[in-house]
Amino acid sequence: MTRSQSKQGESTSSNDRPQGELQYARWVTDPRVAEARRLLLEALQEHRSKIVGVRGADPELVATYQEELARLSQARGGAPFFPYISSGMGNGPWIQLGDGSVKLDFIVGIGVHGMGHSDPRMLSSTLDAGLEDTVMQGNLQHDSASLWMCERLIGLARAQGAKLAHCLLSTSGAMSNENALKIAFHNRAPASRVICIDNCFAGRSIALASLTDRPAYRTGVPKALDVDYLPMFHPSDPEGTTQGAIRTLKHLVERYPGEHACLWLELVAGEGGYYPGTKEYFETLCQICHDHKILVIFDEVQTFSRLSRPFAFQHFGLDRFADIVTLGKITQVCATLYGEELKPRGPILSQTFTASTAAIRGGLAVLDHLEHEKCFGDDGWNMQRHRYFRSKLEALAAKYPGRLSGPYGEGMMIAFTPGDGSAETGKLMLGKLYDLGLMGFVAGSNPTRLRFLPPPGVTTNEHIDIAVGIIESALEFIEPRKV
Ligand SMILES: Cc1ncc(COP(=O)(O)O)c(C=O)c1O
Repeated sequence: MTRSQSKQGESTSSNDRPQGELQYARWVTDPRVAEARRLLLEALQEHRSKIVGVRGADPELVATYQEELARLSQARGGAPFFPYISSGMGNGPWIQLGDGSVKLDFIVGIGVHGMGHSDPRMLSSTLDAGLEDTVMQGNLQHDSASLWMCERLIGLARAQGAKLAHCLLSTSGAMSNENALKIAFHNRAPASRVICIDNCFAGRSIALASLTDRPAYRTGVPKALDVDYLPMFHPSDPEGTTQGAIRTLKHLVERYPGEHACLWLELVAGEGGYYPGTKEYFETLCQICHDHKILVIFDEVQTFSRLSRPFAFQHFGLDRFADIVTLGKITQVCATLYGEELKPRGPILSQTFTASTAAIRGGLAVLDHLEHEKCFGDDGWNMQRHRYFRSKLEALAAKYPGRLSGPYGEGMMIAFTPGDGSAETGKLMLGKLYDLGLMGFVAGSNPTRLRFLPPPGVTTNEHIDIAVGIIESALEFIEPRKV
């Protein structure tokens, strides 16, 4: 039985969770509610089961769709990256657009929809959310699911010994990183500098634009923080790049004694182009930082749930360095985890919304599914799918030298470089993939790579075969790099 067959149509309800004395509202167990849920899930199953492969647009819908796209571009002040407006219906990694076309979605909103599209478990969790009294949760009013989410994330984070004790929910990866930086500065005041790695991406707030290593993203934006950069690890010279980073770090801590509050790390550079570091590289840097009382922040907004363990710091065996950890995307609600000794001594952390009720319930459903389906482990689903996808892309690289290099990345984060690695070639190839029915995205520059974040909960080898077939067809449209 394939994975897609094994679970489709089943639903889990977070209402099954023990709610104890806190659950006074009995209307959720009203038989009419149960019947409404049953009917909705039945209808969903009927509609989603028709979406099973790439399909072109319905000629009758094209004009209206184009008009809606034009209105969207006008309203948002620019065309969306893809001419994509969802029909509201999909099936796992398949998404049906408003013009009736169907695409294989291997980027899922840049890593957000871990169960793909129109998943019955996600519908069920959204129904649970709809049965609550408010659409949003916030710092003045928390529901039981907020508690379950916090406890769940703390439990997962501590599984291999990390000393993370508290969890603050928030609505974006950027906000979770802002909160992380605040906790670090608060605890290491008056230290005000941050150490990052070349090519990193931390988010798009004003403070985080100072960390993110993309000058174009700071155009006209005042510098908010003093940031120092270490050279990134590169597999072409593991020893040289590791030693280079160590030298730079030692030099920095001597040059600015006591001025660095934290080392901020992405363990697989995401937006930067899917460059993983190694345990040795990270371990040495983290140890030097701890020796100098510099806190370590792991940004897991993109990596969470995509490698062999729920957290990338667990995948790389860096648990003892995890002072502060941020996550988001696939969990639907974002979070900042931190240790007991870093608990703020003043009211520095708060916000009106922590997340929507549906996001928290949906995030719990994703976590349930990933654990239940054994996505984690050295031979878990994530690593198995990675090896399969990698072997297929390696075969393409051998068959089409100069047109495809790689693959790169780790777990359910996988990328390749098309042709000469220029931005133009990347964009051309991405557009061809989209037209042929596969959705990916660009990452990095010099070279520009194409990356995929397949939904870990529902991607099968059959889906990967289809994606690789489309990649092979698109390669024909690009010029080979001179080899
Ligand atoms: C590593 C990393 N950190 C932070 C962010 C920012 O998250 P958000 O876009 O939800 O603010 C991203 C987004 O891509 C990311 O990849």
